[in-house]
Amino acid sequence: MEKEAKIYVAGGQSLIGAAILRELESQGYGHLLGKYTEGLDLTDPSQVDAYFATTKPEYVFLAAGKSGGIRANQKYPAELMRDNLLSECHVIHSAYQQGVKKLLYLASSCSYPKLCLQPMKEEYLMAGHLEPSNEAYATAKIAGIKLCQAYRRQYGVNFICAIPANAFGPGDDFSEEDSHVIPGLIRRMHEAKQKEDSSFLIWGTGAPRREFIFSRDLAEACILVMKKYEEVEPINLGLGSDISIAELAGLVKEIIGFPGEISFDPSKPDGMPVKLLDSRKLQALNWEPRTPFKSALAATYQWFLQSEEKQDRGPRVEEKIRQTGRN
Ligand SMILES: NC(=O)c1ccc[n+]([C@@H]2O[C@H](COP(=O)([O-])OP(=O)(O)OC[C@H]3O[C@@H](n4cnc5c(N)ncnc54)[C@H](OP(=O)(O)O)[C@@H]3O)[C@@H](O)[C@H]2O)c1
Repeated sequence: MEKEAKIYVAGGQSLIGAAILRELESQGYGHLLGKYTEGLDLTDPSQVDAYFATTKPEYVFLAAGKSGGIRANQKYPAELMRDNLLSECHVIHSAYQQGVKKLLYLASSCSYPKLCLQPMKEEYLMAGHLEPSNEAYATAKIAGIKLCQAYRRQYGVNFICAIPANAFGPGDDFSEEDSHVIPGLIRRMHEAKQKEDSSFLIWGTGAPRREFIFSRDLAEACILVMKKYEEVEPINLGLGSDISIAELAGLVKEIIGFPGEISFDPSKPDGMPVKLLDSRKLQALNWEPRTPFKSALAATYQWFLQSEEKQDRGPRVEEKIRQTGRN
C-alpha cells in the first residue's frame, strides 16, 4: 500500500474505523477518505456508487455497519441485519466496479458458532448454530465474508476478510444500553465511585474468560493484514490470550480508584466460559500488540472522563437507529 495511495475507511467515525484512520495518518498515509460521513448512507446503492465514482479509492477498509449490545440485538434484529447486509453489499460491489486494488472487510467473532471449539480457528466458521440472541447480525456479518469470497472467485478481485476480537478504546460507546463489557464496566464503576458505593456487583461468577484488543493495536493489525495478507479465508485478529471478568474488574477498579468491594451474583448467567480466537495466522505475520493491557484500559478511562466533561457519550445505537432515518 503506497504512501500516496487513496484509502477509504468506511465507518471512519467508528471505534475501529477512527483508530485505523489515526494509525494510517501516523504511518504517513496522507490521502485518506472517510473521516467525515458527509451524510453518505451506505445502505443506498446510488449514494455509494456516486461516492466511489467521484473519489476513486484504491484501498478500502470496510469497518461500517450497525452493531449493538444484547438489548439492541433483541429489539432491532431486522435493522441490524438489513443495515449490515446492504452496506457490505453496496461497498463491495462499488469497490469491484471502480477497480479498488484491495479491500479489507471486518466481520465479527459472533460469526463463530455458539458452541465453537476453543480457541476458535478460522476453519470453524459455519460449523455449527449461531448464538440465537445475535443470529441476525451474525448472519449478515457471515454474508459479508461470503460476498468477498464470491467476488474474488468470480471477478478475481483482492478482497480479504478479518475477524477482530472484542475491541475497546477511545471513542467507544459507553452508554448504559449498548456498551460492551469494558466500556460498560468503566462507566458503572466510575458512577459507583462518584456515589461512594461500598460495593460493586457484577452479574455471574466472574469466571468467564474473554479476549479484548485495544483499538490502536487492532488498527495496526488491520493495516498489516491489508499490506500482507492475501488469502481467501478470513484471518482472526486477536491477542491469543484472554482474561477473566473478575481479573478485568480488578484492573478497572485499580485504574478508576474505586475503593469499594467487587462482588459477584452467581445466580445470573455467565454465558460462554471461554471465547478466544486462534490468531496464529496473524502472529505468523509478526504482529504483536504494542500497548500493555493496563495502559490501554487507562487510556480508555481517560477518554471517557474527557467525553464526560464534554457531556458527549456518543449517541446510543437505539437512538442512532431512530435518528438516522437510514432504515
Ligand atoms: N467493536 C468491536 O468489538 C467489533 C468486534 C468485531 C467486529 N467489529 C466490526 O467492525 C466494524 C466496526 O466496528 P465498530 O465497533 O468500530 O463500529 P461502531 O462504533 O458501531 O460504528 C459503526 C460505523 O458504521 C457507520 N454506519 C453504520 N451504518 C451506516 C450507514 N448506513 N451508512 C454509513 N455509515 C454507517 C456508523 O456511522 P454513524 O455513526 O454515522 O451511524 C459508524 O461509523 C463493524 O463492522 C463491526 O461489525 C467490531
